[in-house]
Amino acid sequence: MDTKERFAITTGGDYHGKNILAPMVRVGTLPMRLLAAQYGAHITYGEELIDRRVMTCRRVENNALGTTDFIDKDQKLMFRTCEEERTRIVFQMGTADAVNALKAAEIVCRDVQVIDINMGCPKHFSTSGDMGAKLLHKPDTVWDILTTLRRNLPCPVSCKIRLLDTPEKTLALAQMIERADVIAMAVHGRYIPQRPRDPAHWDRISEVVAGMSIPVIANGDVFEHGDFERLRNDTGAVAAMTARGAQWNASIFRHEGLLPLWQVKQDYVRHCIVTDNAVANSKYVIKEMIMKHDTHSLEGVEGKAINKCKDLHSLAQLYDLDDFYCDVIKHRTRKRAADESPNAAVIHQFDESQAKVAREHNDGQKDTPTSDFTERDELVSANTSVHAAG
Ligand SMILES: Cc1cc2nc3c(=O)[nH]c(=O)nc-3n(C[C@H](O)[C@H](O)[C@H](O)COP(=O)(O)O)c2cc1C
Repeated sequence: MDTKERFAITTGGDYHGKNILAPMVRVGTLPMRLLAAQYGAHITYGEELIDRRVMTCRRVENNALGTTDFIDKDQKLMFRTCEEERTRIVFQMGTADAVNALKAAEIVCRDVQVIDINMGCPKHFSTSGDMGAKLLHKPDTVWDILTTLRRNLPCPVSCKIRLLDTPEKTLALAQMIERADVIAMAVHGRYIPQRPRDPAHWDRISEVVAGMSIPVIANGDVFEHGDFERLRNDTGAVAAMTARGAQWNASIFRHEGLLPLWQVKQDYVRHCIVTDNAVANSKYVIKEMIMKHDTHSLEGVEGKAINKCKDLHSLAQLYDLDDFYCDVIKHRTRKRAADESPNAAVIHQFDESQAKVAREHNDGQKDTPTSDFTERDELVSANTSVHAAG
């Protein structure tokens, strides 16, 4: 089966009419991807991870969680995925080099649908490594990376670009990318120097779409559910992608309309508990949700309470999910015990001390300060050396 066929089958069609969760550094970890899919996202991108870190990872089946984990040489969890999202997960990578890109992609490619190359990040920490938007001006490197991946990987390859300063330049690059036989290309309708607050240029995206025959995913300023279709109709793109719309309220993917933010946060925390997400990352994502709606809310009762949470259990209590948390830990503790001694007749009784051990084991990550991609991305880069963003 060729790679396009495999993708078309597993996504239940192809990119046509799809609503997509954009790659978002720190936000696009497993619980957010599962949340977006729960609300209706058809395809979910992971956060951009840098090739040099990914290529040091080993793949570990985490039986207790039912996840597949990629652990780097410093024993840090770089990427977690699970069977449930296998048909829709796009793994995005930052790279400047075909050899490293291939080494990294080979480690994760059997557990994801598509490998995507980020060619849009304009931030210094990305461009200084010749990655992200720097690639837009290096067509030979782009060609080398994409064709190397296409020749050697069992899964499809895609990429995500920004607009170049003239429509002709953008189209020339896009058509070269198409010749490299990628399965699709996302176009973020902003120029490299533009900030998120500047309106996205849907008209510029439509010029790219008109000159392409592979699926184009349009991205920029989808802030309500109806915008997905409007963006597709206005640009002619087959699919539409949102980043901040989903970051602020992931129920944007529901065609029935937005859910109250409290419910979204509860659903998110449930996914964090089930996937044993790092508490620091969980808190960061929730803070991003509440800050959008009230920039002062972090100084309010909820914001202060989030800051005090040291583990997923306290986060669960904050969002009225104590029983849910205890049930999950109970189930996991039993599963671990059963896995460790398959013949054991005794199933450990759950008690608070076991929950505590589990929490200490699971939430070993240190808390990190919050940061806002749109206005405080330098802080993100300073705090997350493995991440970049575009
Ligand atoms: C918090 C955040 C993190 C982002 N991280 C990435 C990333 O890892 N890779 C990438 O290609 N773009 C990244 N972006 C850019 C988005 O994918 C998207 O292109 C951009 O925000 C425009 O879409 P929007 O108008 O729907 O927000 C990020 C954006 C945000 C808000």
